[in-house]
Formats: sequence, C-alpha cells, structure tokens
Amino acid sequence: MTFNHNNKQFNISRYPKSENRSLRPWSAADEHVLKHLAGLDIATDSLALYNDRFGFLSCILNKIAPTNVVDYKSQEKACRMNIKANRLKTTTDQMVTSLTPIPHVVQTAVIKIPKSLDLFRLQLHQLHPHLRAKSVVICSFMTRNFSPSMPAIAEAFHADVEQTKAWKKSRLLILKKKKPVKKASILNNLKWKEDIVLQQYFGVFSAENIDTASRFLIDHIKLDDTDKRILDLGSGNGILAVAMRAQKKDCDIHLMDDSFLAIESAKLNLTDERTHFHFNDTLDEFEDDFFDRIVSNPPFHFEYENNIEVALGLFNQARRCLKDGGRLQVVANRHLNYKTHLRKLFDKTTNIAQNEKFVIYECMK
Ligand SMILES: C[S@@+](CC[C@H](N)C(=O)[O-])C[C@H]1O[C@@H](n2cnc3c(N)ncnc32)[C@H](O)[C@@H]1O
Repeated sequence: MTFNHNNKQFNISRYPKSENRSLRPWSAADEHVLKHLAGLDIATDSLALYNDRFGFLSCILNKIAPTNVVDYKSQEKACRMNIKANRLKTTTDQMVTSLTPIPHVVQTAVIKIPKSLDLFRLQLHQLHPHLRAKSVVICSFMTRNFSPSMPAIAEAFHADVEQTKAWKKSRLLILKKKKPVKKASILNNLKWKEDIVLQQYFGVFSAENIDTASRFLIDHIKLDDTDKRILDLGSGNGILAVAMRAQKKDCDIHLMDDSFLAIESAKLNLTDERTHFHFNDTLDEFEDDFFDRIVSNPPFHFEYENNIEVALGLFNQARRCLKDGGRLQVVANRHLNYKTHLRKLFDKTTNIAQNEKFVIYECMK
C-alpha cells in the first residue's frame, strides 16, 4: 500500500503476507502520530519507536534515525523489508528489544499501545531510565480499544498524562514530566502443579494462569522411545516443553517463538543442556525430516487481528520438518476447524480428544 508524506511516496507491505484484504500495514493511529509529530522539532538520534508492527513509522521517520524497539521476529523482518523496499538507510544498532538498553537519550518516544497492557507497562518501565525531564512519550491507540487502565498505567510513570481529541477514530495519550520510579519486577509467576512455578515477562501469552487449552494438550502428550527430537512450536513461556521434559530426559527439545519476551521467559523455565531456544517466526532454520514430534498450541491472533493464516503456514512448515512417521499434535478451539486444513497436508489426521471448547488433532506424516 502506498502512503504520501511531505511529497514523498512510501510503499509499505505486510509481512507475513495476508490474503485478507481488510488487514492493512498501518492504522489511523499511526497517521495520527505523524500529524502530531509534524508540529514538533525532533533531533536525530533522540526518537524511540515501540510496536511499529510493519515499519510504517520507521520508514517515514527514517531521516531522523529512530531507534526501533522490536519484540517480534516477524516485526523485525517486516521493518527491514520495508526499509529496504523504500531504499532507506538501515543500521543494525537501531533495532533493540524491550529488554536491551536504548543506545541514546530519548527526547521523544512513540508507543503504539499493545493489546497486552502488561506489555505497555513493561515498555514504559524499560523506557523510563532513558527519558529526561523534558522528554515526551506519545502513545497511540484506536478509540474502540481504549481501556481506563491505559492512562492509569501511564500515570504510574508520568505526572502529566493528557488525552487528545479523537481523529479518524484514534486518539493519543501524551505523557510528560517523568516521575521518580523505582526499578520493579517485570516478571509474572505462574503456578504449575504444587511445586513448579513458571516465570514469564509481562506481555507473554496467558499472564495469569497456564492456558486451559495447553493444560488439555499436556494431558494428551505421551512421549515414547521414538521421540528423540521434539519441537514446541509457538512455545510462549515453555509450558509444553516443561511438561515434556518432566516425562523424558533423554531427548532434545527445541522451543520456537516469534516473541522475544516469550523465548527469554522460556529460558528462565528450562535450563538443561538438551533444551534449545529459537527466536523465530518460521522453521526455515530446520532441515527437512528433523523432528520426531512437534506439539503446538498455535497462535490465531496477533494483537487485535484474528487470523489463522500464520498457524496454517506453521503447519505447512511443520510437515516439512517432521520425519516420515513423525507426528504433529495441535490443540485448538473447536470453532477454528483446523481439521480441513490439516487433512490436506498430512497422510493421517485424527481427532484424539475433545471437550466442550477444545480439540486435539494428531497428524502423522
Ligand atoms: C496460543 S500461544 C501458546 C503459548 C504456549 N505454547 C502455551 O501453551 O502457553 C501461541 C504462541 O505462538 C507465538 N507465535 C505467534 N506467531 C508465531 C510464529 N510465526 N512462529 C512462532 N511462534 C509464533 C506467540 O508469540 C505465542 O507465544
């Protein structure tokens, strides 16, 4: 899609691509930020961008060299792809994650408020030491997604929190005057069984409890002697891998997730040498016929978008990476009806368990 800004045309695409034409690579909230920034004088190397999903703002503001805080591998790929497609300058040190320090003082920060307000809190917490007394944080959101917790969280970090009027169904929260704030924990603890507590960074899937679908799947994973190499696909905090490790010590377990905070959380929960971590959104790094078993509670939404295309893409790649005779076990909401898609990919797809809400499929290659 093209966007004109100050007589320059930008071409911004989504990664991964989507067949759904209603899904766009930027929103009115992003345009609202540009409109607001137009009246400000922003110096080079003083701007930080958070949650710029496809790189819309990174491209348009490229001249002032923003630091891009990127917490997803797919986001990193999308930003790089669009920066390259628009022949803009890229420097690797301008991409950091929420857990790594920003390499300069931040005079202005732009945060597209994520759906997980826990993640919003984590990002404000991590940004805080890089701000100076006069720094401004511009937070954008679509009005339909507003929650009173948004300003409440912001007020924990800033003395002055103002909300703008709506423009194209979006609004901004303008945060000024940073407050003195003590370093706090950015981890949640989740109880799993009597003696196991999992840790995860704010914003990682299922913050309060171990997900019900994951519990259901765990009850139906029975590893055997043939399971030497296993993949927990879309691992989140690593709960499926933790349960599998409790069953079997003599196997290699790989965990992969698109979310940096998820993979860093999983590292806190599994520390043995035969567990391997992959911060990625595709299985490209794995050879064909590599795994004996792949288990997954797959993603079906990203932020506010519901979309099963990512999960279907992962199933396709899972098939390639499974050995002949290997299996993919997937838990899903019954209404998603993955069976039709899985049947096209796998020689044998069986429904091995179901309850009122979820179904578990086992697919054999
Ligand atoms: C439904 S959650 C399951 C998390 C965890 N396995 C559990 O059971 O609690 C799906 C996970 O898939 C991850 N994800 C989304 N897109 C992905 C992709 N393309 N590749 C790998 N992981 C992805 C999300 O970050 C999320 O952690």
